[in-house]
Amino acid sequence: MNLWLPEALFFGYTEDQSPVYIFILPVMIELSRVSVTYKSGDVGALSDVSLCIKKGEFVFLVGPTGAGKSTLLKLLYRDARATEGSVNVLGQELSKMRSSQIPPLRRQMGIVLQDYGLLPERTVWQNVAFACQALGQRGRDIRRKLPEALELVKMAHRCDAYPAELSGGEQQRVAIARALVNRPPLLLADEPTGNLDPNTGAGIMDVLYEANQRGATIIVATHDKFSVDRLRQRVIALRGGKIVRDEPCGGYGSEAGD
Ligand SMILES: Nc1ncnc2c1ncn2[C@@H]1O[C@H](COP(=O)(O)OP(=O)(O)OP(=O)(O)O)[C@@H](O)[C@H]1O
Ligand SMILES: [Mg+2]
Repeated sequence: MNLWLPEALFFGYTEDQSPVYIFILPVMIELSRVSVTYKSGDVGALSDVSLCIKKGEFVFLVGPTGAGKSTLLKLLYRDARATEGSVNVLGQELSKMRSSQIPPLRRQMGIVLQDYGLLPERTVWQNVAFACQALGQRGRDIRRKLPEALELVKMAHRCDAYPAELSGGEQQRVAIARALVNRPPLLLADEPTGNLDPNTGAGIMDVLYEANQRGATIIVATHDKFSVDRLRQRVIALRGGKIVRDEPCGGYGSEAGD
């Protein structure tokens, strides 16, 4: 079955005999009975996790430190491998994927990590442009789309600055512009507000929320109680490598334990 195609299910007829269909949103991510045990670790980082995330969802992953949030995200961009079970992302089964197929998979995603990962020798503009050049886009097209991405994160005025000349929050904004510039269908963010003050953090979450409103599926691992409680999106809580709560329009909750 191709999980990526929308499905229309016949539901019945109206009074005037018109057929009624239900359209099922395409599945973007499906984990089935997934466990991850790192080679160097004796305890499982994830244990028997099953979940389904549909196109257009905004999902917060919460849970105490060591719960398995980063491991779950790493599975999705194939930085970690399932020891057991199946991981289907964007219609591809990752547990069987060859390493040569990983870069094309990642090009369909925006990935934001806590260490920003900006290239120190390149300016803000060049860092964001790099994501477009990696897809083989032409200079003219890049010059057209970059201003919008930099405006979105309110960094257009610093486009000539180097990462070392920016604060942590500003670097995080640039990393998000780089992740979003090609409008990927899926954005994964691991503690994007971890090093930021509450106001700056709220601004970053708003940018992610806006990208979600434009159609991107967003998954954010976070300890940012304030933002989770404010945005009221789907919350998946992990503890000890297991899902202990999966709630639409949820809050940060108490089981996150911090
Ligand atoms: N590369 C690794 N090798 C061995 N064990 C690891 C590795 N990465 C993570 N782990 C272990 O796997 C478990 C889950 O870690 P993970 O990084 O997914 O937690 P987390 O929920 O992201 O925590 P935090 O909130 O601190 O970021 C932890 O017990 C951790 O020690
Ligand atoms: Mg983590």
